[in-house]
Amino acid sequence: MITISTENLIHTYSPGSPFEKTAVDGVSFTLTSGEVMGVIGHTGSGKSTLIRHLNGLLKPTSGTVKVDGEDIFAKGYKRGKLRSRVGLVFQYPEYQLFDETVEKDIAFGPRNMDCDDEEIKRRVVKAAEFAGLTEAELKASPFELSGGQKRRAALAGVLAMEPEALILDEPAAGLDPVSRRRIMLDILAFAKETNAAILLVSHSMEDIAAYTNKVAVMRDGKFVMQGETREIFSRVGELAEHGLSVPQVTRICTECGCEGTVLTVEEGAKALSDMLRGCAE
Ligand SMILES: Nc1ncnc2c1ncn2[C@@H]1O[C@H](COP(=O)(O)OP(=O)(O)O)[C@@H](O)[C@H]1O
Ligand SMILES: [Mg+2]
Repeated sequence: MITISTENLIHTYSPGSPFEKTAVDGVSFTLTSGEVMGVIGHTGSGKSTLIRHLNGLLKPTSGTVKVDGEDIFAKGYKRGKLRSRVGLVFQYPEYQLFDETVEKDIAFGPRNMDCDDEEIKRRVVKAAEFAGLTEAELKASPFELSGGQKRRAALAGVLAMEPEALILDEPAAGLDPVSRRRIMLDILAFAKETNAAILLVSHSMEDIAAYTNKVAVMRDGKFVMQGETREIFSRVGELAEHGLSVPQVTRICTECGCEGTVLTVEEGAKALSDMLRGCAE
């Protein structure tokens, strides 16, 4: 069980210089085991800066980051352990693959955690399974893999640390639709089986709608909207004011006058057929 929270988190880059920039400006939220939280917002809104605080990589200019109620920047707090409890998958993580085989790359995290050989082996096998990597892919050099395979290898490297929280910065960006869906389903399967807390940064409204249960909308460093996913996507006009759209299926069903807010194509198909059936009666 893990709970991560921020309170009035502010991060200013290069304070006092001509390049001063407040990238995160008073963000408060709580994320706990079993939740999948989405963070959406345009490029430059502060998403990547925010999430780098959650495992202690960046220090707040002011405000707090707490894990299980403890301030992770308080004196004496052991932040070393946090790197494995809170797994951070960076944007384009495939650039961080470096070892001669995928297997060794995945083993890097558990090895750094001082796991013994048997435990490392177990974790690599388990992580590879979650990330859908085959035996042949494990033996391959990371540089021989396709884009989708590299992304899954990088994900497996973080999963091998068996994090209680998984923070993902655009995990599906740049992938084809099939790889995209696959990696999202892999992440969800991991979350479900381990009861991890997930924070998903994404540009894809479709992914956020389909896979999260709460959402924050970030703009100019602030959370301008925050709530349960279905409730947020029902506020179409407000999202538009922030320059954001809703999934196509949500928009079509709203325009057709379906009841409630539809989040996925499956829900849309049902809502539309129910409505048409109603018309026929
Ligand atoms: N290392 C840095 N130094 C100075 N400014 C930065 C740095 N990283 C990001 N920024 C600025 O902070 C703002 C937020 O960036 P970022 O957190 O990357 O947003 P997002 O992930 O939403 O695109 C942007 O204006 C960006 O230019
Ligand atoms: Mg970013």
